[in-house]
Amino acid sequence: MNTFFQGKRLRRTAELRSLIRETPAITASDLIMPYFVVETDTPTFRKEIPSMPGQYQLSLNMLREQVAKAVDNGLRAIILFGIPATKDPQGSGAYAENGIVQQAVRMLRTHFPKLFIITDVCLCEYTSHGHCGLLSPQGDVLNDPTLQLLTRTATSHAEAGADMVAPSDMMDGRIQALRAGLDAANFTMLPIMSYAVKYASAYYGPFREAAESAPQSGDRKSYQMDPANAREGLREAAADIAEGADCLIVKPAGPYLDIIRRVYETYDIPLCAYQVSGEYSLIKAAGANGWIHEEAVVLESLTGIKRAGAKMIISYFTEELLQKRQITL
Ligand code: PBG
Ligand code: ZN
Repeated sequence: MNTFFQGKRLRRTAELRSLIRETPAITASDLIMPYFVVETDTPTFRKEIPSMPGQYQLSLNMLREQVAKAVDNGLRAIILFGIPATKDPQGSGAYAENGIVQQAVRMLRTHFPKLFIITDVCLCEYTSHGHCGLLSPQGDVLNDPTLQLLTRTATSHAEAGADMVAPSDMMDGRIQALRAGLDAANFTMLPIMSYAVKYASAYYGPFREAAESAPQSGDRKSYQMDPANAREGLREAAADIAEGADCLIVKPAGPYLDIIRRVYETYDIPLCAYQVSGEYSLIKAAGANGWIHEEAVVLESLTGIKRAGAKMIISYFTEELLQKRQITL
């Protein structure tokens, strides 16, 4: 027997294991729950997303009911996505004063004063072509004209009462544009959490069904990052920090733990990871088939993300973990 290192000596009891555990347990203060709110005349609208069992498109009314239960269970933070009644090439629903996200924020703000409300800032749920920015007649994404619309969107979310805005469009210079716009509108203390390191990922498939935001032609590879690139992620992070981002998101999470770790070790800035729709759907599908112990895999996946260096985690499992008391508050 090797008498030097005896790994098992420190694994004998649950008490000892918890004493030496390096990564703190996942708590409600780590997690952010995404919601999809739909602009609809049907107050009872609540439609399960086929590829994301347990996740719903919700009317304002149903969103209020669902968030009320989750808040009772300890939910602290959410990120909102909107699905407008109509779409157009300019994505005007994104920055409409009475747009669906703006309405949802105002409603949630009055009912849940302490809930931390983050809004996703992008055009793709609102554009008829499904791209994250304006398109030229040739079908190219127009960077600078898009910045103005993103700034209007973020400012309108702030006016509605959002606590933080999270731009996910991947246009260049957007953090600087948003910061300037928010400051000019007197929201100098409103933080920006940038989806700085966002990959062109096939793991977003179920989200695009949920948000009805799939691009009608082409793909997002001309603005989202190549999954093969790690060092480029650091340049994206550096640019957004220089432009004034307050915290950063790496997205997706599970297949990109190396990126989370590198950003964590390189920059002293609060870091968030987005466990995206496809990561959720894979676990749900295998769980439903009895191929994995779903609850254990969920916690292990989140522990891995936290161990890699993300403090905040956006996860579709948040509500369920709280409801089943699988994490502490
Ligand atoms: C919109 C946006 C997307 C996601 C978050 N914001 C989709 C995309 O970029 O195509 C994906 C989230 C998920 O898959 O859960 N820009
Ligand atoms: Zn988008």
